Amino acid sequence: MTHLAAAPSPSVRVHAPGKVNLSLRVGAVQDDGYHPLSTIFQAVALYEEVTATQVPEGAGVTITVDGPQADLVPVDGTNLAWRAAEALAARVGTAPDVALHLAKGVPVAGGMAGGSADAAATLVACDALWQTGLSREDLTSLAAELGSDVPFALLGHTAVGTGRGHLLTPAMTRGEFHWVFAAQAEGLSTPAVYGRFDELAGPGGSGAVDDPGLAEDTALMQALRAGDAHALGRALHNDLQAAALSLRPELERTIAVAHEAGALGAFVSGSGPTVAALARSRQHALAIAASWTAEGAADSVWCTSGPAHGARLLP
Ligand code: C5P
Repeated sequence: MTHLAAAPSPSVRVHAPGKVNLSLRVGAVQDDGYHPLSTIFQAVALYEEVTATQVPEGAGVTITVDGPQADLVPVDGTNLAWRAAEALAARVGTAPDVALHLAKGVPVAGGMAGGSADAAATLVACDALWQTGLSREDLTSLAAELGSDVPFALLGHTAVGTGRGHLLTPAMTRGEFHWVFAAQAEGLSTPAVYGRFDELAGPGGSGAVDDPGLAEDTALMQALRAGDAHALGRALHNDLQAAALSLRPELERTIAVAHEAGALGAFVSGSGPTVAALARSRQHALAIAASWTAEGAADSVWCTSGPAHGARLLP
């Protein structure tokens, strides 16, 4: 008797990076509930890995997750990766039948766009699995419909973002920057942080970012082009930091500990609560991480570097 082994279902693996906003300038809330942004994203080498596996027709989308904070990640239609698979299927007129496995490499709900990276990776993975023939531009416009940070997770490297953060222009950089992140067990909700930002700004809002010209970030852009980490450290900026600190005052200490450890800059990453510190070297990043751990100022620490590549198929 001959046993024929069942052929494994085709699957593809994709990496997409987390990010830090080197500068995040936020205007007054608009009628659509969003805030106009002028931001500079940098992708860091902490990757979400999404495996998309073909399943029988009619099976629908399923999600499984592993990684340090996997239990915090929804596995239903509220997961941005699920919505990405459905949006792509609808766009090409196919059924959204796919098993998605998310291996989390970016802190969950930390202001580093890990969920957006899952969505970007899912778009690239399902695009390959279903052989849709869509262009990168098509994927980028689908990405923008899914969330403000999803297009950047597709693009990676370093880029200026305007609009809701979804209109991107690549920025030139030299060399490698060393980062260390202090993540907290309890995330912060992005809408809650923007809501507190509005409260702090008061009626009429903050100085609106109507003109997305980056006049205020000239020094930052120069630092990136020169590969000058000291100058970059001085130029880091986050308009959401006061809002995140008012929701989580203990992050002040996390920032102070990084400064005491000689960080070139330390601030809240995106909408937080993750704190990002820029280090002189990988060794220095490890030293800052050790200080955070010794002081109990982080629930987990993540040493990495940027810029990193955008969503990409793995062999
Ligand atoms: O676009 P995304 O779904 O990631 O945004 C999540 C939430 O963050 C929005 O519902 C909104 O409350 C807030 N947000 C904002 N302005 C932006 C981006 C996000 O107010 N530019």
